[in-house]
Amino acid sequence: MNGRGFAVACANIALAKYWGKCDEALNLPAVPSVSVTLDALVTETEVVVDPALAADLFTLGGVAQDGGAVRKVSEFLDLLHGGAPRECARVTSHNRFPSSSGLASSASGFAALAAASARAYGLDRTTAELSALARRGSASAARSLYGGFVELPAGTPGDGSLAARPLHDADWWDVRVVIAMVTKAPKDIASRDGMRRTTRTSPYWDAWLACAPGYARTVREGVARRDLEAVGAAMEASTCAMHASAWAAVPAVRYIRGVTLDALDRVEALRREGTGAWATMDAGPHVKVLCAAADAARVAEAMRSAPGVVDVRVAKPGPGIVET
Ligand code: ADP
Ligand code: DP6
Repeated sequence: MNGRGFAVACANIALAKYWGKCDEALNLPAVPSVSVTLDALVTETEVVVDPALAADLFTLGGVAQDGGAVRKVSEFLDLLHGGAPRECARVTSHNRFPSSSGLASSASGFAALAAASARAYGLDRTTAELSALARRGSASAARSLYGGFVELPAGTPGDGSLAARPLHDADWWDVRVVIAMVTKAPKDIASRDGMRRTTRTSPYWDAWLACAPGYARTVREGVARRDLEAVGAAMEASTCAMHASAWAAVPAVRYIRGVTLDALDRVEALRREGTGAWATMDAGPHVKVLCAAADAARVAEAMRSAPGVVDVRVAKPGPGIVET
């Protein structure tokens, strides 16, 4: 056993969204998704196996975690061991961006934890195996094992082997994602709870299931052709359909705020003025804008001046997992 593992993972943004599961126990997505890994949203995680510990310890951003947060990490380490007995570990992680706010900390968080813990326990795992493991923590995390453009197919109920597939490396396409943050606070409804409520109560759940695979296909094909307009349009349609299905849940699952709509107006104005810019939102109020590298400064400036925007980061397609 190595005793210590350290990994750095980037979060990713879904160009075509995953929303909802076909198997909750195995955390299998009901629809395919396509993402780009982002170099500007990074998690660093260290795992140290310590036989002297009576229980796992988890520190996030310098704060000792308790209750559910530690339990999630412990359950993940149990999964890594397939339920076999194991020694306890000290897990120390830093998200270099706001956590639990709709910027995909669960994606980079579980990707980094998968790689660092496998290394610490001396378990030899392929990237695909780590991706399938990370998926159990958070399905979007399966995609963060890989750099560049990545696909996570829909799951098949009962098949726990599902992993993400790399489509193109980070240098395939020189696009930018301008991240307009409208708050640094955690969201009210975790993605998992929002999905469950959508699946169980939204009259638009079936409509989402019917349209999502088409958006994923259009995005995948558009990325292969480096066709920004096709990818941008399908990306906007995917996020709007996802949020509409969630909004129609009972009670409503609503991540979009007034400031989100103001930022979306800015993106539309940019397009009217001739700048190729398209927006997407995840399970949170922030707006992420896809554009060409040459337009990133103009788009960032426009988003910075939108009402309610508290921070702007410009991300490039980023690398896959890095372990030491
Ligand atoms: P986000 O939009 O940031 O992904 P979610 O509500 O989907 O928010 O996920 C947040 C959850 O992800 C946290 O409750 C925690 O379980 C997990 N998480 C976030 N960061 C880390 C990390 N660095 N290491 C392990 N788990 C993490
Ligand atoms: C809207 O992967 O955080 O960001 O699997 O329940 O942990 P769990 O959900 P999570 O959901 C991400 C949802 C999304 C779209 C996406 O990233 O594809």
